[in-house]
Amino acid sequence: MEIVIQRTYEDLCDEAFRVLRQELLRKPGLALGLATGRTPAGLYRRIVDAKLPMKRVRFFNLDEFIGLPPSDPRSFHHLLHERLLDPLKIPERNAHLLRGDVPDPEKAAVAYEKVVRAAGGIDLQILGIGRNGHVAFNEPGSSLGSRTRPKTLEMKTLVDYAGTFASPDEVPRFSITMGIGTILEARRILLLASGPEKAEAIQRMAEGPITAEIPASALQLHPKASVLLDEDAASRLIRKDYWKWVYANKWRVGQ
Ligand code: PGA
Repeated sequence: MEIVIQRTYEDLCDEAFRVLRQELLRKPGLALGLATGRTPAGLYRRIVDAKLPMKRVRFFNLDEFIGLPPSDPRSFHHLLHERLLDPLKIPERNAHLLRGDVPDPEKAAVAYEKVVRAAGGIDLQILGIGRNGHVAFNEPGSSLGSRTRPKTLEMKTLVDYAGTFASPDEVPRFSITMGIGTILEARRILLLASGPEKAEAIQRMAEGPITAEIPASALQLHPKASVLLDEDAASRLIRKDYWKWVYANKWRVGQ
């Protein structure tokens, strides 16, 4: 796992954008897994501003609140359309987003796994991390081998989303989320984290043991995962200087 520490949030978005553009050049029909949350907003802004050629890209998302239809402005479906898919004029056939208003979320989860598989798997997966170490809505205790499924949200997550809703009581209790096993099958992973509130989860996922208590720690098993941080999110890393040294001296083709 690679740890990349940038000075500011804007710098980490620049770096994520650079990687995405590189992957897109390599494969114009990329299968791109999207995270919602606040953190990737700067990356999505850059994609829209740069008018990257993404008509052939197939888009997937990580998770959704059960009960919210795509028309609900608080749904991830709506947010991704607003931030990225609509400005880029992505054809509906290329947007494979989980829905929160399906009658049978368990069945929808199994069907989603098939859609991902039929697309040949995810080429590049963008991830955020929760203060509790979750990735997507795989809350602490999630099986590291889990697949897409309905998942109960923990209190910390409900509190974190209370701002989007009127209060923690109004945040849906359930989500439908790609599993950790599903996420680990992506060919390349970029996890983005910014701000001091993420520093502890980052320290534990990067420098602690692999444990279901910190679901993001499962990325230690992935052969091509990069964790892009700003200085605040990196502030609790014990081996911060080491990570910086490794990245500064990284083996680069042609050096
Ligand atoms: P955030 O969410 O980017 O809004 O902090 C990340 C997450 O909860 O996975």
